[in-house]
Amino acid sequence: MEGVERKGRRLLLIPLPLQGHINPMLHLAQILYSNAFSITILHTTFNSPDPSNYPHFNFSCIQEPSSLCLSQSSASHLLNFLLALNAQCVTPFQECVTKLLSEEPQPVACLISDALCYFTQGVADKLRLPRIVLRTGGVSSFVAFAAFPFLRLKGYIPIQDCKLEEAVTEVPPLRVKDLPTVKTEEPEKYYELLHRFVNETKNSLGVIWNSFQELESSALTKLSQEFSFSMPMFPIGPFHKYFPTSSSSSCSSLISQDQSCISWLDKHSPNSVLYVSFGSVAAITETDFLEIAWGLANSNHPFLWVVRPGLIMGSKWLEPLPSGLMENLEGRGLIVKWAPQLEVLAHSAVGAFWTHNGWNSTLESICEGVPMICMPCFTDQKVNARYVSHVWRIGLQLENGVERGEIERAIRRLMDVNAEGKEIRDRALKLKEEVKLCLKTGGSSCSSLEALVTYILSLESSTFQAS
Ligand code: UDX
Repeated sequence: MEGVERKGRRLLLIPLPLQGHINPMLHLAQILYSNAFSITILHTTFNSPDPSNYPHFNFSCIQEPSSLCLSQSSASHLLNFLLALNAQCVTPFQECVTKLLSEEPQPVACLISDALCYFTQGVADKLRLPRIVLRTGGVSSFVAFAAFPFLRLKGYIPIQDCKLEEAVTEVPPLRVKDLPTVKTEEPEKYYELLHRFVNETKNSLGVIWNSFQELESSALTKLSQEFSFSMPMFPIGPFHKYFPTSSSSSCSSLISQDQSCISWLDKHSPNSVLYVSFGSVAAITETDFLEIAWGLANSNHPFLWVVRPGLIMGSKWLEPLPSGLMENLEGRGLIVKWAPQLEVLAHSAVGAFWTHNGWNSTLESICEGVPMICMPCFTDQKVNARYVSHVWRIGLQLENGVERGEIERAIRRLMDVNAEGKEIRDRALKLKEEVKLCLKTGGSSCSSLEALVTYILSLESSTFQAS
C-alpha cells in the first residue's frame, strides 16, 4: 500500500479496546487507507494496539484513568467495563481530539467510532466533528438491541424461564431464549447501556457494518423502515477479506498466535478437523469444560481446541483437564492458547467450527464456507447462533446445555458422512461464493465502499477547524 496518493483527508478512528472490536476497526482503517485517507488511531492504554505493525498510521493515546481494565471474563464484568469506559473517557478523549485538531496540518474529515464508545457522540458534537459509527456486530442482532424498549413493554424481557422456547413474533426468527441479554444482578444498567448505544448510533451521521447486503438485507430494511434509522448505512464487509489471509491475520492480535497448529493441520485430510474456540471474552465453568473435553474425545474426530488462559472460571489454564485424556487420543486432539484463526478457518483440513458465535468468528467461518456448531454465551452471540442455524442453515445449535452425549451427537451429525451434514456444508459453500461476489467490482460491498468514500469526502466542509 506504500505510495498511495493521499487525498489530504485524515480520519480519526477509535476502537473499543477489546479483541473482537479492535480487529474489525483496524481492518477498516486499512481499507480506508487503501482508499487514500490518512489514518489516526485513538486508543486507550488498556489493550492498546502495537503501532509497529502499522507504520503508515498515526497513533494517539487518550490516557484513560488507570483503573480501566477488564480483569475477568464474565458478562457482568464486561457490562461494568463498558459503563466505566463510557463514563471515564469523556474528558481525556475530548482533550486528545482537541489537541489533534489544533496540531493537525491535514483537514480531519470525520471521526469513526465503535458504536459501543457512545460517549464520543457528545464530544464530537461539541467539537463540530462529524461522527460515523462502526458497528462491529451483525445487523440482525442490532435490530434486536433496538427493539429492547418495545420487548420490555411487551413483557418478553426480563426473560422468564418458563417462556424460553416461545417465539418473539415481532422479531422473527428469534425465540425468547435468543434475545441478546446478559446474566447480571443489575439489568437496569444493561438496559441503560443499550439505550445509549442504540441512540447515539441513531444520532451519528452514518453506520458502517462489517456485514454484506445479501447476508442481512431484511435486517437492514427493518432498521430503516421500522426503527427510523434514516442515516446512510454502509454494509461493506467482510473487512478481513479485502486482504490476503496471511497479512490480515496477526497484526491486531492482542495475544500471540500459536502457529504450530498450522503444521499440525497440514497433516490432516480435507474437512476432517473440528476447530473449537469460544473467542476472547466468554468464560465457561469447570463442569462445562469437562463435558466439552469428553464430548470431543468421544466424537472420534480430530480437533484443534483454543483454550485461552482465563477461559475456565477459577483456573489459570488447563489444570481441570483429567490427566491422560489428551495422551490417550494419540495426537487426535491439539490444545493451544490462541490460534491464527483466519488461517485455521481457511485451512483445507478444517471441516467445522464449534464457536460461541461472536460476530467476527461467525463471519470468518461464513467467509471460508465452514459449517458451525453454535454455543452462544451472551448478548449478540445468541442472535447470531439463531441466524446460523435457522436462517442461513449453515450450522447446528447445542440447544440443551453442555452435555458430552449431545456434543458427540452434534459433532457426528455435522462431520460424519451423512445427508444432513452434506446439506449444511453445501449451503455454507454457497454462502462463501456470495462473499466472493459482494467484494468484486460492482458487488454490493464494493459499491457500498465507494459510496462510503464519497460520503466521507462530502463531510469535510462542515468540519471544525482550529483557528
Ligand atoms: C466479542 C463479543 O463477545 C461478541 O459477542 C461480539 O460479537 C464481538 O466481541 P469475541 O469473544 O472477541 O467477541 O469473539 P469474536 O467476535 O468472534 O472475535 C474474536 C476475534 O479473535 C476473531 O477475529 C478471531 O479471528 C480472533 N481469534 C480468536 C484469534 O485470532 N485466535 C483465536 O484463537 C481465537
